[in-house]
Amino acid sequence: MSEPPTVYVTREIPGVGLDRLRDRYEVVVREETLPPGRSEIEAAVADHDAEGLLCLLTDEIDAGVLDASSDLAVVSTYSVGYDHVDLEAAHERGIAVGHTPGVLTETTADFAWALLMMCARRTVEAHDHVEADAWETWEPTLLRGADVHDATLGIVGLGDIGTATARRGAGFGMDILYTSRSRKPDREAELEAVGLDATYVDLDELLAASDFVSLHVPLTDETDGLIGAAEFERMRDDAVLVNTARGEVVDTEALDEALEADRIARAGLDVTDPEPLPADHRLLRHAPEKLVVTPHIGSSSVETRGRMAEMAAANLEAGIEGEPLPNSALRDAGLE
Ligand code: NAP
Ligand code: GLV
Repeated sequence: MSEPPTVYVTREIPGVGLDRLRDRYEVVVREETLPPGRSEIEAAVADHDAEGLLCLLTDEIDAGVLDASSDLAVVSTYSVGYDHVDLEAAHERGIAVGHTPGVLTETTADFAWALLMMCARRTVEAHDHVEADAWETWEPTLLRGADVHDATLGIVGLGDIGTATARRGAGFGMDILYTSRSRKPDREAELEAVGLDATYVDLDELLAASDFVSLHVPLTDETDGLIGAAEFERMRDDAVLVNTARGEVVDTEALDEALEADRIARAGLDVTDPEPLPADHRLLRHAPEKLVVTPHIGSSSVETRGRMAEMAAANLEAGIEGEPLPNSALRDAGLE
C-alpha cells in the first residue's frame, strides 16, 4: 500500500471532482481524450498499485482489471450506468463500486424530451432547410410533423429518468403508459401528483398504443436487443422511438429496416450500437428525415457534469477509507 494512496483516473473529468481527490491522494490522470483499451487500464492500475480507479462508461472493467492491483479497494464510475463494470467479479473480490444516480436524472430527462421534440417537429430538417437557402416563402404543407400535446407517451423502464421524462408530459396533457419488470405504485403516485394517470401495461401493449416510445432501462442480459424486429412490427407506423438508455437496447439492424420500410415514423438516438456511430454507418442514410442522432450527451449540462464529478470523487474517497459508498452500484444492483 502506498502513502498517500494512488488513484488512477482514466480520463480528465471536471475539476471539482479531481481537486477534492488531489487534497488526499496521489492522483494520476491519463491525458488522452480517447478511451484506453482494457489492457491499458489493467497495466496502469498494476503499475501504480492503484487503490482507487475512477473510470468512464467507455472503459471495460473486467476481472483482469480488478485483479491488476492487490490494493484496489474501489472502482468509481463517472456515470449512472454500470453495464461496463463486472459487478459480480468486484463483489467476489470485496471491491466497492460507485456510480452517479440521481444527479443526472433531470438533465437526461430534459434531453429525452429534446430528442422527442426534434423528431416530432422535424427541427433538424427545418434548420437544414434554412441553411440550404431553401426557405422561399411560408408554405401550407412545409415540414409537417406530429403533435406532442395530447399524445400518448410510452415509457419503457419507469425508474428515475423514466419517471422524470413522464412527468414532463403533464405540461403537454399526455397520456402515460409504462412498462417495467414490476408495477411501480410510488412512481404512479408521483406522477398522479402532477395530474398524470400512468398506466402499467406490458411491452406489447405499450408499443401498439404509444405515439412516442422512450427507453429508460439499464443495459442487462434481459434488455440487450429488447427492441427488435418483432417490437417494430408492433409499433404504430406514425410512432417515434427515443433512446437515451444504451445503444444495445435497440437492435440496430432491425431499426434500420423499420425506418427503411416506414414501420415507424422516426427515431431519436442519443446512444447507438455501435458507439460511436461512424459517419459512414448505414443507419445514417435515414437522417435527418427519419433519424436524429446525438453523441451520448444526455447528462451533459455544465452543472450536472460537475455534480457527477463530485459524486464520483465522494464514492472513491469512501471506498479508499473503507466506508460505505454514498452511491454503491453493488447495492443498487442487489448484490449487497
Ligand atoms: P433506474 O432509476 O435504475 O431505472 C431503470 C428502470 O428500468 C427501473 O425502473 C427498472 O425497474 C427498469 N428495468 C430494469 N430492467 C428492466 C426490464 N428488463 N424491462 C423493463 N424495465 C426494466 O435508472 P436511471 O437512473 O433511470 O437510468 C436508466 C439508464 O439510463 C441507465 O442505466 C443508463 O444506461 C441510461 N442513461 C443514459 C444517459 C445518457 O447520457 N444518454 C444518462 C443517464 C443514464 P425494474 O427493475 O422494476 O424493472
Ligand atoms: C450515461 O449514459 C450514464 O450512464 O451516466
